[in-house]
Amino acid sequence: MPAPRLGILTAGGDCAGLNAVIRGIVSAAARQQMEVVGFHEGYEGLLNPQTARVLGVADTRGIEAQGGTILGTTNKGRFQLRRGADGKSSLPEPLLRAARSALEQQRAGALVVLGGDGSLRTALHLARAGMRVLGVPKTIDNDLDSTDMTFGFDTAVSRVAEAVQNLRTTAESHKRVIIIEVMGRHTGWLALHGAVAGGADAALIPEVPFDGDLLVRFVKEAERRGQRSQIIVVAEGARAKSGRQIRRQTASGENRLGGIGNYVDSLVAGRTGRETRCCVLGHLQRGGAPTAFDRVLGQQFGVRAVELCNDGMFGRMVSFRFGAVTDVALADAVNRRRSVQPDSQILRHARALGLFLGD
Ligand code: F6P
Repeated sequence: MPAPRLGILTAGGDCAGLNAVIRGIVSAAARQQMEVVGFHEGYEGLLNPQTARVLGVADTRGIEAQGGTILGTTNKGRFQLRRGADGKSSLPEPLLRAARSALEQQRAGALVVLGGDGSLRTALHLARAGMRVLGVPKTIDNDLDSTDMTFGFDTAVSRVAEAVQNLRTTAESHKRVIIIEVMGRHTGWLALHGAVAGGADAALIPEVPFDGDLLVRFVKEAERRGQRSQIIVVAEGARAKSGRQIRRQTASGENRLGGIGNYVDSLVAGRTGRETRCCVLGHLQRGGAPTAFDRVLGQQFGVRAVELCNDGMFGRMVSFRFGAVTDVALADAVNRRRSVQPDSQILRHARALGLFLGD
């Protein structure tokens, strides 16, 4: 049954391309005589449905080129899954009731969630509770299974590549080793693609624990060959063979990945005598205008979400497979991390290009 009104929300950490998806949904829905209502601040918006607003084509014109999300988002808000005594996760009943009532109040026959794995897991629980839900996969980490590409990744890769190139010029001037810590959580897609795109000398990723001795030897040999600078891209989830992932406690008590860049900096400086600097790229990777690729992919994802809605196919996630936009069951898509495999083509090609991977 086609939904007369489609609810949408953006959940979890933002990334470039969210607005492109919103524009895609609004434009495609308008052509199907469907209205779109946007809930604000992620799932929190379902707890404050009176703040939702109808989005028309005029409200979204030009936003495909803007970073962030016009709807706002919340990372780890109140809409959290809880683990029961049986070890299974579920959404507490009051939250399910609130979601149902928010959709009713806004006359939204279906809900499209733009989110990463955590947010899509929540979406799956709403679907299991009988709500008509669709997911659109978002993350700069590109770590969702069932899609070859998430929107936001291409933009983040461009940011890393640009940083590598910019840091190269100053590293060359000063004959320095510069370590760039990048995001990516437990996967190395962003570090690897960013290092290749920017022409870095090394990339250390979680899937390939690095050998500190080999890293030191690599830097010394490069210097001996007369190479003035070395740029090492380190994924936040990378770890030494002999160690563990490095985490830091935030003021709010959260235990977050971070600090491996400084670890590598001390290791290289201490054992090579070279002058080193560490640059933590942080949220620069998530901010700013999306690349043309993410604008196109984002809008196509939006169109597909509306098609699914029109065809009454709920409980699905839009996906990008073998160069085409398609869809998969939400249940098959979440809870499965896509990591860089030893036989991944990008890993093989990176080695073939001479990128040092720490092993
Ligand atoms: O999952 C996306 C991501 O940007 C990760 O790469 C990173 O570890 C994390 O989110 C940062 O989250 P926050 O915006 O909460 O600091």
